[in-house]
Amino acid sequence: MGNSEALQNYKDRRAKMLQAGGESGVQKQHEKGKLTARERISTFLDDSTFIESNAFATVRTKEFGMDTKRFPGDGVVAGSGKVNGRQVFLSSQDFTVLGGSLGEMHAFKIASAQELALQNGVPFVSINDSGGARIQEGVLSLEGYARIFKNNTLSSGVIPQISVILGPCAGGAVYSPAITDFIFMVDNVSHMYITGPAVIKAVTGEDISHEELGGPLPHCGKSGVAHFRFTSEEECFEALKRLLSYLPSNNRELPPVVDTGDPADRKNDGLFSILPEDAKRPYDVKDIIAEVYDKDSFLEVHADYAKNIVVGFAKLAGRTVGIMANQPKFLAASLDIDSSDKAARFLRFCDAFNVPITTLVDVPGYLPGIAQEHGGIIRHGAKLLYAIAEANVPKIAVILRKAYGGSMIAMSSKTLGYDRTLAWPTAEIAVMGAEGAANIIFRKDIDEAEDKAAKRAEKIEEFRENFMNPYIAAELGIIDDVIDPAYTRIELIRALELHSRKREEKPAKKHGNIPL
Ligand code: HXC
Repeated sequence: MGNSEALQNYKDRRAKMLQAGGESGVQKQHEKGKLTARERISTFLDDSTFIESNAFATVRTKEFGMDTKRFPGDGVVAGSGKVNGRQVFLSSQDFTVLGGSLGEMHAFKIASAQELALQNGVPFVSINDSGGARIQEGVLSLEGYARIFKNNTLSSGVIPQISVILGPCAGGAVYSPAITDFIFMVDNVSHMYITGPAVIKAVTGEDISHEELGGPLPHCGKSGVAHFRFTSEEECFEALKRLLSYLPSNNRELPPVVDTGDPADRKNDGLFSILPEDAKRPYDVKDIIAEVYDKDSFLEVHADYAKNIVVGFAKLAGRTVGIMANQPKFLAASLDIDSSDKAARFLRFCDAFNVPITTLVDVPGYLPGIAQEHGGIIRHGAKLLYAIAEANVPKIAVILRKAYGGSMIAMSSKTLGYDRTLAWPTAEIAVMGAEGAANIIFRKDIDEAEDKAAKRAEKIEEFRENFMNPYIAAELGIIDDVIDPAYTRIELIRALELHSRKREEKPAKKHGNIPL
């Protein structure tokens, strides 16, 4: 073959490879309202930055006549590129080739990209659109998944790993995303389940659609499997880019610092008026967040799940911080199983990637109930305590109103691990609320009184007056200071700066044993 023929041969091969499943495959993909694997990469990455790995890799298996056909790219595109100028590695499954199913070489391409991401200390993004294990390749597919899961685990806490589900993700295939840090889903496009509607119908007789079973609505709202939900792929990639902009590339770097244009000395003059005069009335803690942190910088994580706690990233004077805030709008802000899981997992991500933690505290305690007790609130609630105690990033708490019992410890205790705890003058720091406390310690007085109701009210008021304030804790050195709410932003920024160089010695161990 002469040089020009070799060049032409190369061009033909490359064109076929880029064509993937061909025009009809692409058309089918578009008819489903989905982008192709390569369109997704172009939408996500900065222009002309994609460097492909193992572009010509394809099936080795000869079974089932696989050697008589060509499967360009083996159903996945993998490589590296830049997002807002910062390097990432990624894989994008190509449903137009064998339904994006995962065989030996397909897995090799994904695993190689994962390994390079880890070696180079940059985030890994996997775009999932696949029929699962490639049936024709049998156990080789299972081996491929095993390698991917192992890489996910080795990379956990070293580089951010994000999964974007843009098609089916079924069977054991769900476990790679599940090990990663964040899962993104799109309405009517993304479906995740261990067994699909047909198997469920056969086994349990239950009828359910793909969307109702494994779409973004159940996974972002009920199961908590996924973190972000969108109505289009474009919107999803924009949000993914935004999330990456808050994160460091790996665990040895600090998150990027940006100029948000919001002054560090901005007072929060209207802030205190968000808190209702009546301590029993709810308010939206997101209004507080919007006022305190840099303007429009709040990126909520798990917005539709366990809404009684709010978590997410924001900027304070241009630096990334994590927020954990009780939300009085839901379940009176009490902590339950789901909110404990949600917050603990978020805190561990922040700690792994050097993101300081700030908490806004207004919590009446753990949620009472048989379902909670039998569902394991003891075990789940313990995760939150463990995550805070273990985290060694700067941790700053501001108690706005209630801080009762064990939940006070989880949200604000310096002994547990907070570096600085501040309180508004409205803070009520106590073992429990005034009603509960008075009923227990003044039970005899109340029982012996002629007018029991009046006595109870009197004792509750007495307890409230004497104990439901921040000053007892302040006098005992349990909190650092009581602050004017107008200075909340300024105080938080100063506290973060103060603790930004902290070093903590911990007992040597292989790893701890968080109550999973
Ligand atoms: C090989 C597959 C495949 C698979 C799909 N295809 N899934 N080929 N192995 N797992 C092929 C189809 O044969 C078809 O090829 C093409 O991909 C497109 O599939 P369609 O069925 O036409 O598409 P659609 O109607 O959109 O349905 C998509 C689907 C369905 C819901 C994903 O294909 C499906 O149910 N697939 C099987 C899913 C599954 O059970 N996978 C194994 C899960 S077990 P042609 O040539 O006709 O275009 C598992 C274990 C993992 O994954 C364990 C890890 C630890």
